[in-house]
Amino acid sequence: MNVSIIGTGYVGLTTGACLAYLGHHVTCVDTDQSKIERLEGGEIPIYEPCLKELVQDARPNIKFTTAYEEAIPQSEVVFIAVGTPTGQNGAPDLRYLQAAAYNVGDCLRGEFTVVVNKSTVPIGSGNWVGSLISERAKAAFSVASNPEFLREGAAISDTLYPDRIVVGSDCKKTAALLYTLYRPIIEQSFSAPRYLPRPEGMGAVPLISADLASAELVKYAANAFLALKISYINEIGCLANRVGADIEQVAKGIGLDRRIGNRFLQAGIGWGGSCFGKDTAALVATAKEYGLEMPIVEAAREVNQAQRERAVNTLLRELKILKGRTIGLLGLAFKPDTDDLRDAPALDVARKLLERGARVRVHDPIAMERSRRENPSLALCYCETAEEVACGADAVMLMTEWLEYRDLKWEVMAEYMKSPVVLDGRHMLNRARMEKAGLNLISLSS
Ligand code: UGA
Repeated sequence: MNVSIIGTGYVGLTTGACLAYLGHHVTCVDTDQSKIERLEGGEIPIYEPCLKELVQDARPNIKFTTAYEEAIPQSEVVFIAVGTPTGQNGAPDLRYLQAAAYNVGDCLRGEFTVVVNKSTVPIGSGNWVGSLISERAKAAFSVASNPEFLREGAAISDTLYPDRIVVGSDCKKTAALLYTLYRPIIEQSFSAPRYLPRPEGMGAVPLISADLASAELVKYAANAFLALKISYINEIGCLANRVGADIEQVAKGIGLDRRIGNRFLQAGIGWGGSCFGKDTAALVATAKEYGLEMPIVEAAREVNQAQRERAVNTLLRELKILKGRTIGLLGLAFKPDTDDLRDAPALDVARKLLERGARVRVHDPIAMERSRRENPSLALCYCETAEEVACGADAVMLMTEWLEYRDLKWEVMAEYMKSPVVLDGRHMLNRARMEKAGLNLISLSS
């Protein structure tokens, strides 16, 4: 099928690359000229495992342009995957969505085009986008919602091997077209990329057909649930710390109950990234518009923010004085396998430490260049290695669960450090091993 993707961020680029890999003819549109030039030249502007290989494999089926008119007229399906950043009062800023809808409307020529909202958009956006396109369109179209559930760092795997596909539409023809588009994924009939084998036991993927509003709400409800699962385990973690229980054992003990499930029960510094914060804020804002409160979601947000403060307070209790201390941070990205720094807990903690007069040394396997670029006024000392971070440090805080930090030569780290305090913000380090290395391992405490 002929497909256009508007927006080449994480979602747009991943969706485009995956659909092209499946054999569809994909044109990615973005208004950022330099980004399009880089993509055309084979460069991938974001760090995402397997994306470069996938774009290379799909190259004959994928092109990049800044011109809507080169993409939309011949497309059967148009995905809108532009950013919806948080705007005023927590509600998403829909400027880019509006511009994309008008541009698509101007260029529609096909017999019947399905326009799909792939961006995370407020409930009711399907109708809104439809009305914007109608103001301009001279051809038949229908709007569908098809929320994405991909995680950064695992975006390709989540797209090719998803738990489910959700399609929201009030029109049978639209649902049928999207079924055809996704058939290779639904039936798992495509040959798996050599660098990303199909998970063992992977069967057919359930397709959930819903109405527009329900599909839109699925996305918010899913992200909010995952966010509150993390905040819940972090709240229990505080109590565990007080009563002398081990939160990892507790998480294992509850996670094996299949009704609860063991994923997203990793306690620590809490969630970051561009999605959970934004989507929980949007959910609360939407509810408010309807005169409703969302106390559970709001509490999850508060607990998450408190974790960052708690990390600094834990260190303060341990070191007594932060002013003039040297603190090393391992990890800047909001999670491993990405260089994304949006709402990264590490940066928040770094700011708080700097405000209290500490010197902050940082390392991240891939996010340092981006951090330098995006935070020019933050007085961080960027180190080439984790060992360099440890040099003269009064404490080291593990902020992102990069596997290479678990496997560090901690004996060597201990030698470089001024005092042997390690705060594990991700419950990743082995206590016995750290003690053997002569390190005092502490975790977040209330
Ligand atoms: C999240 C959802 O997981 C995706 O399903 C969704 O598609 C995406 O948002 C989105 O809306 O675009 P993402 O933000 O990329 O994906 O990353 P996650 O793997 O969900 O991690 C989010 C944060 O939670 C990270 O900071 C991670 O370190 C933290 N986390 C995750 C925990 O603290 N504990 C856990 O057990 C799991």
